[in-house]
Amino acid sequence: MSDRTNDEIGRIPLIVANWKMNLTASEAVAFAERFVPQLQAHALGTRFEVAIAPAYPALGPLRKALEGSKIQLAAQNFHPAEAGAFTGEVSLAMLEDLGCDFALIGHSERRQLFGEGDDVIAAKAQRLEGSPVCPILCVGETLDQRESGATLEVVDAQLAAVLDVTGAGLARRLVIAYEPVWAIGTGRTATPDLVQTVHAAIRKTLVARLGAVGQATRILYGGSVKPSNASALLSQRDVDGALVGGASLDPDSFAKLALACLETA
Ligand code: PGA
Repeated sequence: MSDRTNDEIGRIPLIVANWKMNLTASEAVAFAERFVPQLQAHALGTRFEVAIAPAYPALGPLRKALEGSKIQLAAQNFHPAEAGAFTGEVSLAMLEDLGCDFALIGHSERRQLFGEGDDVIAAKAQRLEGSPVCPILCVGETLDQRESGATLEVVDAQLAAVLDVTGAGLARRLVIAYEPVWAIGTGRTATPDLVQTVHAAIRKTLVARLGAVGQATRILYGGSVKPSNASALLSQRDVDGALVGGASLDPDSFAKLALACLETA
């Protein structure tokens, strides 16, 4: 776990794999064995950062398989309560114990399939205050919302729900991921221009709310990012990395994609 704040890290690209409900613990270890050597010769941790969010059962084995590699570990979710009678849930303390560096909050699949509203997402953000685990807050509009011209309003409301409860410590470690729901898992990628427009709006909100801290916040793009479109997206001014689902499941493809950010630096 790193206790470096965003201004110390300096907006170097962060590429995060979101494996969703894919890959067993053994498959995750096999992935690491093939993936790690492909990144070894590159300036991981200084020119770019890479994290992997496996399903819960793979967190411990993957942590072990990544030892010494500088590749970081992320969780896909956790429950906002400290502990207690929540059958089937995982607490933040459990993630800290495994050495997780990041945790996703507000992923659109959690919002849409599991009914998580901004109140639950804000409670998770509050739980992260003072924790070494950094939040990756996912925001993004549905196709209907985009077509009705509500994109920036929706994204702003999702951001505000968390920024309203974010203290100075958490703000310094916050990562945002803009993921238009219509581009997730559909092969339909947002164009680099469209992505930059929304990222610039997010940056404006972050700076208005957090001042200089908002300038140092990394804003990742997610939604059908693949090796073939990664460079064009990552070369946009306010795109500081990517959150990758489908294209992160294959170690060779994800290595190619992760290294694409070095071409744009
Ligand atoms: P995708 O998923 O890359 O498969 O579109 C991205 C995500 O849901 O984070």
